[in-house]
Order: sequence, then C-alpha cells, then structure tokens
Amino acid sequence: MPYQLTDEQQMMRDMVRKLAQNELAPRAAEIDRTHRFPRENIEKMAELGLMGVPIPEEYGGAGCDFLSYIITIEEISRACASTGVILAVHTSVGTFPILYFGTEEQKQKYIPKLAGGEFLGAFALTESNAGSDPANLSTTARLEGDHYIVNGNKIFITNGGEADVYVTFVTTDKSKGHKGITCLLVDKDTPGFSVGKKEEKMGLNGSQTTELIFDNARVPRENLLGKEGEGFKVAMALLDGGRIGIGAQGLGIAQAAFDVAKQYAKERVQFGKPIADFQAIRFMLADMATRIDCARLLVYRAARMRDMGLPYSKEASMAKMYATDTAMEVTTNAVQILGGYGYCREYPVERYMRDAKITQIYEGTNQIQRLVIAKHLLKD
Ligand code: CAA
Repeated sequence: MPYQLTDEQQMMRDMVRKLAQNELAPRAAEIDRTHRFPRENIEKMAELGLMGVPIPEEYGGAGCDFLSYIITIEEISRACASTGVILAVHTSVGTFPILYFGTEEQKQKYIPKLAGGEFLGAFALTESNAGSDPANLSTTARLEGDHYIVNGNKIFITNGGEADVYVTFVTTDKSKGHKGITCLLVDKDTPGFSVGKKEEKMGLNGSQTTELIFDNARVPRENLLGKEGEGFKVAMALLDGGRIGIGAQGLGIAQAAFDVAKQYAKERVQFGKPIADFQAIRFMLADMATRIDCARLLVYRAARMRDMGLPYSKEASMAKMYATDTAMEVTTNAVQILGGYGYCREYPVERYMRDAKITQIYEGTNQIQRLVIAKHLLKD
C-alpha cells in the first residue's frame, strides 16, 4: 500500500501541526506538572473543527476520512499526549458509537454537540473485575417503566468528570455473559450518577481518569444504544477503530521523543565532538527512526483499510501493539541519549516516557492485541 497522503490529508496534517506546535506544545509541561484538564486546548481544537474530524458534515463534523482523523491524533499527541487521548476517546469511542448504533433522534441530540466541541464524550466499559475481560462486567441495569435503573461502579474512565455523555456498558442479564451486555447513553446530570475517585497517575496528567458511580441511576429508556444484549459487539467493534487512534497517539509521542533526541545528539559535545558522531548513538537513532517509520506504515495502513471498508480488526491490533511498543522503546532510548538531562524535567523526554507507558495498557493491553492478532491469523 503506497505511503502517499492526498492533498486534503496533507492540508489537514499541516493545519493540525501548526496548531499543535504553536499552541499546545508550549503548555504541555505545565499541564503535566499541575495535572490540569486542558479545556482551552479543546476550545482551540473545536475552533478548527477537530472535535469531529471524521464525523459527517450533516451531523456537524468536518466530514473527513478516518486517516485524516488518525493524522490529527498523531500530531496532537506529538505536542501534548494528554490532549491526544482526550480527543481520541471523545471521537473513537465517545462519538462513533452514537453515529453507528444510534437512532436518528439520538444522533440529532448528541452528535452535532459532540462534533462541535460543545459536548465531550467518554466510554465507560472497565470495572474493577472487568479490564481485559469486559464480558465479566457487573454494573446492572433493570427496566422499570420508562427508565433503566443502573447500579455499579466503573473505573479508569478517561474524560471522567469532564464529559457530558458517557457511552456506558451494563448487564441486563448476567446469566447470558457477553450476550447480556447492553449499551446506554448516560448524561452527566443523570440522577443517581456521580463521579468518584480521581486517579493519580504516572503520566498523561492532563487527561482525567476517574471512577463513575451508579447508585440507582435513572437512565431514560430512550437512551438505550442499539439493542439490549448487543452491547458487547458495540464495544468490540468500536475498540477496533479506537486502537488505531491509540497507535497514532503512540506514534506522535515516539516522533516527539525522537526529534528531541536527534537534536540533542547533534548539539551535545563529549570527548571533543557531538555525541551524534559516535556509532553507539548513531545506531540508536537509526533503530528509533526505523521503528517509527514501521509504526506509521502500520497505523496508516489500518486507517486506510477502515476507510476502504475492508475488515481491519487484525491490522488495528497490529498497529496499536507495534506503535505503542515503539513509543515505549523510543522514549526510553531518548532518555538514555539525553543522559542525566533526560531524567530531569528540564527536557520533555521523561514526560514522553511516562506518557508512553499507558499506551501499551489501555484500549486493550498489548498482550490482548497479540491474542486478537493470533485469533485472526489462525482463523485465516
Ligand atoms: N468486532 C465485532 N464483534 C466482535 C469483535 C470485534 N472486533 N471481537 C469479538 N466480537 C464478538 C465475537 O464475534 C463474539 O460474538 P458471538 O458471541 O456472537 O460469537 C463475541 O464478540 C465474543 O467474542 P470473544 O469470544 O472473542 O470474546 P472474549 O470474551 O474472548 O474477549 C477479547 C475477546 C479480545 C479478549 C476482548 O474481551 C477484549 O478486547 N478485551 C480488552 C478490553 C479492552 O480493550 N478494554 C479497553 C477499555 S476502553 C479504554 O481503554 C479507553 C481509554 O481510556 C483509552
């Protein structure tokens, strides 16, 4: 598959890169240090239509292809990985479920606000006993008149406390396992719904990660997304696309770390010459650049396959796994190249390394990605 962007995709990349480097990158360190939710970044992205890049124009989106969206995530994450995941979760698993599985009424109610940035989306699947194994979730919902009564807790929810609508997975019949899972749209002001503990994390400190509490929460029946018992497939199908987005996030973080390491290696003089003149550093830079290129090819390939309407689940998992493992390796090596300076906050590479780690874990650990890939390989 040729690695050639269309004129529109290049224009999108240049526009997003300009915003990301001029506006987002300069405040990324402060956001990380203060653990502050970067609301102003969302406003800036909304001004350029970036909160709904792949959403059709008829619903208030920019109407671009999925690859343009992926490039957007890459460029935003290169500047501020916290903002990258806020946008990725909002779009891939916060807005797409409504676009694909919502009724026309649900689409009209939510999507223009989500795509315009007035609303922020979130995805509530994970529970304390249902992480890699989401079919085991135990938040319950039972229908009482015109409302679902929801009870249980979600954990590790990206955009928790900041989102306006939560795509939430519950069980309406625990005895049926994954076939009893149902998806509900939970508005932030739903009676009985509240935001619990906020996590203190290693990285991605601008992105809020919280518990959600459902205590006899009353969700209107019309907020059922899709059909009862079909929620697991909704989650799995959405995660396929979401994983390409997280691959793009890893790619952006890796590129940012490589850029700093390369520049530093050219400027840092030891033993009378720039350290880039030493073979030990040259080999590291060559390996880092090669891995980043491979990751980009895999991520863009998966996005193109999605745009072409081809099955892409295996390729999405390959892209997510490889690009995020690359992010971890490249950021670790960037810290190594910068030595003692790399370990200090004066340079951004230690932040990139902390931010990279979670990309190997969320939207399915990289061990789960390998299981998905193997399942497809053996089925073929
Ligand atoms: N698309 C559509 N349907 C799918 C599917 C897909 N990609 N994958 C599986 N299914 C369907 C299967 O066809 C099957 O349907 P039938 O019962 O009709 O045959 C059903 O789902 C069950 O499939 P499996 O038996 O394969 O399911 P499983 O229970 O063994 O789980 C798994 C498979 C891959 C391990 C899956 O559970 C998984 O992906 N786990 C990781 C969870 C995850 O990614 N969590 C991320 C949380 S969100 C997040 O992290 C966001 C963030 O903050 C950044």
